Amino acid sequence: MNRSTLKPSPRPSAVRTSTPSNLNDATRERVVAELNDRLADGTDLHSQVKVAHWNVKGPQFASLHPLFEAFAGQIAGWNDELAERAVILGGAAYGTVRHAARASRLAEYPCEVTRDLEHVELLVARFDTFAEGLRATRGLAEELGDIDTADLLTAMLQQHEKNGWLLRATLGV
Ligand SMILES: [Fe+2]
Repeated sequence: MNRSTLKPSPRPSAVRTSTPSNLNDATRERVVAELNDRLADGTDLHSQVKVAHWNVKGPQFASLHPLFEAFAGQIAGWNDELAERAVILGGAAYGTVRHAARASRLAEYPCEVTRDLEHVELLVARFDTFAEGLRATRGLAEELGDIDTADLLTAMLQQHEKNGWLLRATLGV
């Protein structure tokens, strides 16, 4: 999808008053907006990892094809957690692929690539971008006193950094 053909999308942040959270409205609005930003990145990343899973060819196929599928399953679970945390805080989850196409910070994935280690390199760069976003959102949540969102993001980062190590080890770096 061409980014330039998409209409601008407002950053989703509005929160409802009925929520189990005891955080104030302003805090919840900021965290919900950030969670939706991470959901956009995660939705994009999930689709990119699936493209790598489908298109990969080469001597490492037998290990990378299932590894990429395992990554996709984990990312799908994190996206679910990000979306549900936004709703728990009284917001809405902006989880469509059209919203992700507008809001994701990831570079587009080249679908014509087949070579195994080229996919690994492409994913390393995108995993790093996703991690930067998770860390930034965790930092904001900590600053605002939303320790539960910060903890959720820490759990994601621990797994995500492990996955980044698996990719780098495959490259021998
Ligand atoms: Fe598959």
